[in-house]
Amino acid sequence: MTDPTRSDALVLFGATGDLARKMVLPALYHLAEAGRLDIPVVGVALSDMDTEAFREHTRDAVAAAVDDVDGDALAAFLGRLVLVTGDYRDTATFDALVAALGDARRAAHYLAIPPSMFGTVVRALSAAGLHEGARVIVEKPFGHDRASARELNAVLHGTFPERSILRVDHYLGKESVENLLTFRFANTLLEPLWNRHHVASVQITMAESFGIAGRGAFYDDVGAVRDVVQNHLLQVVTLLAMEPPVDAGADALRDEKVKVLTAMRALDPAHLVRGQFDGYRDEPGVAADSTTETFVAMRLDIDSWRWAGVPFYVRAGKRLETTAMEAVVELRCPPTLLFAGADCAPGPNLVRLRMGRDAGVTLTVQAKQPGRAIRTRPVDLQVDFQEALGEWRGPYERLLDDALDGDPRRFAREDTVEQAWRVVDPALDPRAPVRPYAPGSWGPGEADAILDGGRWHRPEPATSE
Ligand code: BG6
Repeated sequence: MTDPTRSDALVLFGATGDLARKMVLPALYHLAEAGRLDIPVVGVALSDMDTEAFREHTRDAVAAAVDDVDGDALAAFLGRLVLVTGDYRDTATFDALVAALGDARRAAHYLAIPPSMFGTVVRALSAAGLHEGARVIVEKPFGHDRASARELNAVLHGTFPERSILRVDHYLGKESVENLLTFRFANTLLEPLWNRHHVASVQITMAESFGIAGRGAFYDDVGAVRDVVQNHLLQVVTLLAMEPPVDAGADALRDEKVKVLTAMRALDPAHLVRGQFDGYRDEPGVAADSTTETFVAMRLDIDSWRWAGVPFYVRAGKRLETTAMEAVVELRCPPTLLFAGADCAPGPNLVRLRMGRDAGVTLTVQAKQPGRAIRTRPVDLQVDFQEALGEWRGPYERLLDDALDGDPRRFAREDTVEQAWRVVDPALDPRAPVRPYAPGSWGPGEADAILDGGRWHRPEPATSE
């Protein structure tokens, strides 16, 4: 249920760090510009900066991330910022935070810090009495396997109830991902087909043409499964596979999502291919003998009445041929191929749900090719959502707005996170082979072998690339 009480301050731990600079501060500026941020924002960091320097740092962060900055809105936003400096292990830091918060009683605490520090910070918040009526916002990676996710949950639950813990997965803040929910459940078009009787397979591809973008030290400890599959891509699978929620509320939605993951088999390592792009080991911060995967392809199985026997293929990789994010639902072929010939074998209908920069839907259907012979050719019925519906807000901005409202709908619940780890835990064995692949390719050739004779659908590249 949405808590009707909006937070009356935002505390940003790790305020001078990378995540804050690239994501959180620009998103807060956007919120302020939209008139959705009229509360103090208190940064906390171990830093030489003072409040003035932090405001300048924030001005630069906004300028780097936002094209058309509104000078007045930025000045008003910067005026809300205060920086408290100190070590998170030092009670004086939290005394200073209490003073900076003044009359605010229901802060939202954003932990843009390494998870190893979560325990220290939440216990200190509790000791300072700053947890009452407050919320805590945490970032992925939420644990590095199922056991550590449980430990982390226990740490947070020591101070905050589940309804006050908001676990950010920025995919849940994307309009294009949320559209999976409305496309399925605000229409009746697809529902009769959306099951094992009509769907042959589902493929989800998250392709990135860029590499690890200077994040070698972080990425080398993490790899593709932890970075994007356990969280973003399994959330996408739940939206594609879930039953209709009983109502539009947060609990009903998250109940259905966790059911999908609970019915999903733990990954069979025989259905897993890990890859690493050539040159990865030369990246700064990466171990010379690293076996971290920068590409992964896997087959997942959901043992439910709706999906039993329908493979869900998931692949994600860095330095691939293009950047694209999409799910392709392949329908079964007609029972007899009336219009096939030696030179023509009609392909199956495809529902392509695009979630990247070119978000939209493409339905691939067969149409008659002009001419005497009755032969068909695939044609696309296509819609581009931003063209049809207008521009939308970025995921961090939306999630921060929700977090201040205490609306948990677009945040990951404890049980979902733990189930997702259960599914991917078998993919985390660093001894599993890692296959080399050429940058600019579609990953190692071995990834084709997990498709049971099918082929990967080529994503439509984002037009804005
Ligand atoms: C992040 C990952 O969570 O998501 C990155 O850490 C990845 O490695 C990014 O590039 C992708 O997000 P988006 O919104 O660009 O698809």
